[in-house]
Amino acid sequence: MALTPALATLLRGRLALPVVASPLFIISNPALVIAQCTAGVVGSFPALNARPAEALADWIMQIQDALADWDAHNPDRPSAPFAVNQIVHRSNVRLEHDMEVCTRHRVPIVITSLGARPEVNEAVHSYGGAVLHDIINDRFAKKAIEKGADGLIAVAAGAGGHAGTLSPFALMQEIRAWFDGPVALSGAIATGSAVLAAQAMGADLGYIGSAFIATEEANANPAYKQAIVDGDADSIVYTNLITGVHGNYLRPSLVAAGLDPDNLPASDASKMNFGGDKAKAWKDIWGSGQGIGAVQAVVPTAALVARMAREYAEARNRLARTQPELAPAPALAPVLAAT
Ligand SMILES: Cc1cc2nc3c(=O)[nH]c(=O)nc-3n(C[C@H](O)[C@H](O)[C@H](O)COP(=O)(O)O)c2cc1C
Repeated sequence: MALTPALATLLRGRLALPVVASPLFIISNPALVIAQCTAGVVGSFPALNARPAEALADWIMQIQDALADWDAHNPDRPSAPFAVNQIVHRSNVRLEHDMEVCTRHRVPIVITSLGARPEVNEAVHSYGGAVLHDIINDRFAKKAIEKGADGLIAVAAGAGGHAGTLSPFALMQEIRAWFDGPVALSGAIATGSAVLAAQAMGADLGYIGSAFIATEEANANPAYKQAIVDGDADSIVYTNLITGVHGNYLRPSLVAAGLDPDNLPASDASKMNFGGDKAKAWKDIWGSGQGIGAVQAVVPTAALVARMAREYAEARNRLARTQPELAPAPALAPVLAAT
């Protein structure tokens, strides 16, 4: 459990809460990323959200300028670094262009999804940046590290967007058996106590997506934000129909699109397409993880982060208070000695 030197330097003294606000297709925009970083969590966006491709450099510069301005005025509370997400799938025809832009602008953290490529990692390392690669099982985790990623994002069951099916306990246990580098854990985290739980399991950071949809800065229509507030774990349907890869979606949006959530046809990975058309076809299908029961209102991003930071501190205090009662060490010592 350790951040690599590059990540430790990037994050030191800059986090109000050990969290990466994850990239959200269509929803993450510069306003959201700036609000996340200035609130003290790593903000991120998918490169593909900047459309046309020429807009990517503008988005990055807009974020860098705003964060530099924030840091100049708030030296005691400097902003967290930001991350750009690259979909490393053959259908993403923008990858080469977008990586060139990220390299030229020295994006501090690159999050890679759907495929690990050594040349992407090398490009980010060339200017001192760090790569986190998202995975849904231990096999993909090993591949990602072999190909040169600095750290992992463990996407467990219940996560929004493309999610796995593994329990976070199982996933973290398997990863921590061989990997002691940076790991962010995701899947239904929406409270500060869940962030602390992720750390207790061995993660360095929590990775949170769906809760940020219900923020004022998020680029989502008001009905979507309200559906996140109104929904809970029971409202989430796991299907591969939408993109060809299994993911979690809000049941009411599937019904509104004329689909029967309980009888969805299956798709397959050959239908994956990050070239653009698919996004239009399913633009009213709303992705969400299972953790949204903890989301009670649409709020400014700063308020959401402040709420989770308060909960995180309370959870730590609660554990510290209860720990003396558990006090395993003295009672356990003779038993251990006898074995
Ligand atoms: C609407 C939506 C869009 C997403 N888009 C992306 C994306 O473009 N790239 C990506 O790597 N992950 C994407 N994700 C997955 C998130 O980055 C993250 O893994 C997930 O939201 C974490 O689980 P949580 O939503 O339960 O917090 C998306 C998730 C949602 C809900």
